[in-house]
Amino acid sequence: MKLGKYLFLIVFIFILATIPVFSKQAKGTVATKHPVPMEGQNCISCHEGDQNYVEWEKSGHGTILVKCEVCHGEEKNFVKRPSEKVCRGCHASQFENMPVANVTCISCHPAHSFKLKGHK
Ligand code: HEC
Ligand code: HEC
Ligand code: HEC
Ligand code: HEC
Repeated sequence: MKLGKYLFLIVFIFILATIPVFSKQAKGTVATKHPVPMEGQNCISCHEGDQNYVEWEKSGHGTILVKCEVCHGEEKNFVKRPSEKVCRGCHASQFENMPVANVTCISCHPAHSFKLKGHK
């Protein structure tokens, strides 16, 4: 009787885990729709002057031209809030050696200045 109860619980949890809401899916890797058609233009031709652009332009990424597309993708694979998986390709050593567990890069290096929070 008791065993049956546990078995039911185990099966129930197993079923739950297969439902997307309860299983972990990496955020910021699934493509979403950009709010307006890009009409073949690049990101900067419309976003130049936005706060994100201004911060990006002054940052190391702007200087060295790590463009919007590198992290956000293009129209067909557009991601609104890129996950830190996009950072890995260029910053592998920081990715492997996170100073604190269970935090994201942008909790210390906010987009798009990517400066350290709290420091100038
Ligand atoms: C034709 C002009 C145009 C182009 C090209 C364009 N955008 Fe946008 N983008 C907009 C407008 C308009 C909005 C909505 C208003 C706003 O938030 O500024 C927007 C919103 C966004 C948002 C916020 C999304 C949301 O759902 O709130 C992101 C992120 C973004 N664009 C990134 C990009 C990136 C990356 C590119 C290049 C791959 C790009 N945009 C190309 C005009 C453009
Ligand atoms: C080095 C990677 C990187 C580059 C390059 C980059 N972004 Fe982002 N962007 C991010 C990340 C990460 C976030 C999510 C920030 C968050 O969740 O607080 C973000 C968020 C945004 C948002 C806010 C979306 C929302 O409503 O939550 C906009 C708009 C945006 N980016 C536009 C741009 C534009 C325009 C460019 C180029 C000038 C650009 N980004 C370049 C990484 C990048
Ligand atoms: C295409 C390669 C590339 C990607 C992708 C990339 N970066 Fe960078 N990043 C660079 C380069 C190159 C520099 C060095 C710029 C310099 O030395 O001035 C840099 C510099 C930085 C810095 C130092 C601050 C600064 O302004 O110089 C931080 C922090 C940083 N990146 C965080 C991130 C994070 C977080 C992501 C993911 C959201 C990311 N980067 C994605 C290439 C990249
Ligand atoms: C808990 C806060 C914290 C988190 C999370 C964090 N960083 Fe950093 N990061 C720092 C500090 C502090 C420095 C500057 C001091 C130093 O050199 O260690 C730094 C420096 C950097 C630099 C400049 C080069 C260097 O190594 O000094 C890069 C690039 C960078 N971080 C990328 C990343 C990326 C990519 C992630 C996510 C995978 C990340 N950081 C997560 C705190 C953090």
